[in-house]
Amino acid sequence: PVLVIDFGAQYAQLIARRVREANVYSEIVPHTASVADIMAKNPAAIILSGGPSSVYADGAPTVDPALFEQGVPVLGICYGFQAMAAALGGTVAQTGLREYGRTPVGVCEAGVLLAGSPAQQPTWMSHGDAVHAAPAGFTVLASSQGAPVAAFEDDTRRLYGVQWHPEVKHSPFGQDTLTNFLYKGAGLSPDWTPGNVIADQVAAIRAQVGSSRVICGLSGGVDSSVAAALVQRAVGDQLTCVFVDHGLLRQGEAEQVEKDFVAAIGVKLVVVDAKQRFLDVLAGVTEPETKRKIIGREFIRVFEDAARDIVADAGQGGDVKFLVQGTLYPDVVESGGGEGAANIKSHHNVGGLPDDLQFELVEPLRTLFKDEVRAVGIELGVPEDIVWRQPFPGPGLGIRIIGEVTADRLDILRAADAIAREELTKAGLDRDIWQCPVVLLADVRSVGVQGDGRTYGHPIVLRPVSSEDAMTADWSRLPYDLLAEISNRITNEVSDVNRVVLDVTSKPPGTIEWE
Ligand code: XMP
Repeated sequence: PVLVIDFGAQYAQLIARRVREANVYSEIVPHTASVADIMAKNPAAIILSGGPSSVYADGAPTVDPALFEQGVPVLGICYGFQAMAAALGGTVAQTGLREYGRTPVGVCEAGVLLAGSPAQQPTWMSHGDAVHAAPAGFTVLASSQGAPVAAFEDDTRRLYGVQWHPEVKHSPFGQDTLTNFLYKGAGLSPDWTPGNVIADQVAAIRAQVGSSRVICGLSGGVDSSVAAALVQRAVGDQLTCVFVDHGLLRQGEAEQVEKDFVAAIGVKLVVVDAKQRFLDVLAGVTEPETKRKIIGREFIRVFEDAARDIVADAGQGGDVKFLVQGTLYPDVVESGGGEGAANIKSHHNVGGLPDDLQFELVEPLRTLFKDEVRAVGIELGVPEDIVWRQPFPGPGLGIRIIGEVTADRLDILRAADAIAREELTKAGLDRDIWQCPVVLLADVRSVGVQGDGRTYGHPIVLRPVSSEDAMTADWSRLPYDLLAEISNRITNEVSDVNRVVLDVTSKPPGTIEWE
């Protein structure tokens, strides 16, 4: 792999993604890894990420100069560039001029790293210190007002560095810089593709599970679906999927999993109809956190019951030893980067599955980012509607009915939600918005007039949001005509709803969901 050494910047994951976009496999390792640890991973190339510190600050992370003597090509970025310069005998100093954001750079010599990119180019910088003199043997490639040495290389030792952030889109020639390093500097080939990921994972899954049986909880979302499809490709009928229909799903979702997914993937599926169980435990409950806890707990009970049945059925057919989880690479990196016992993601389905289920985990998506999961899903033939599904919370419509959850209210909300989704799809906006929760204010009534009569119905709230990662969000400026169409249709077609309102709150202060 290409190893990205993480100096504590928020950019390390982005760098790894950009390398993978160049079809080269990449992993992140913490800067505390020793040269021996790093070499044990047999890196094809190394990228030193940016970081928050000054290389001269107390306790600033450093680079062991031995790293540059391993014969492995290295690219230093921002802090990594300065740490590299300092380690190899160059000069790094405070310039008094800080450069943040868009910064023009002049290229004096393209070298290998900047080959094919313009002599003047905008870049994205974020630094206070700057490299004043390149280490011996290095050629200076570029400079900016605040960075006398903004890029350098020693092509014979295959060592390269840039002060700016080539991984961000604000550096328009950044991807070219990265690919120059990967293909020309390090001599790598772009052969990491979804097809190869599938082949590797299929082999790994077969080696892990042998002839044992495997179960997988399907939620209808992209991660569990693609994970199941991969395991199915690897071990076929040894896999049984469990889909818990808690009745809090949107229109067509249960059918989508039952029919489309099974038809496309050919997986063995147990559907547990738990609608009544969930209505029973939710009766009379209005407090959001209580609802979430009840739904989470009930989900686990239903899943455990189903798992026990499958284990019992297995009988002499062999043990069910493995549980598939759709853990993604960002979860692995965020929980400390890697090896060792895997935690079951607490919000993977609803409340997370309990540890005492005593299964070994199969996590075929552990090395992948979300967009890569989607690409693998498409390659495996998972239906596009599932692969491109917008986020939908585990507790489902249960937390989109403000008030008690009842069968009637679920029907109302499902009908309104189906109209909103249909119109958004028709308008071609599905991939522009992050998601659009539709919320029923079940305990609120307002007066309306329809036909010749007075109505006394409930409001429906539309909550379209745009977001990068759901941590922050803004309300989406949907076209008025589209909003008008959704509003008309919902008030005309859904009984008991006589008003549609638009939520124009960003996050923060509002969360995306209402509960
Ligand atoms: P909030 O409401 O916290 O939502 O702004 C952020 C994102 O998370 C989704 N969400 C959940 N997803 N289980 C999930 O799997 C949950 O319990 C849950 N609650 C919220 C929400 O739809 C949004 O995308």
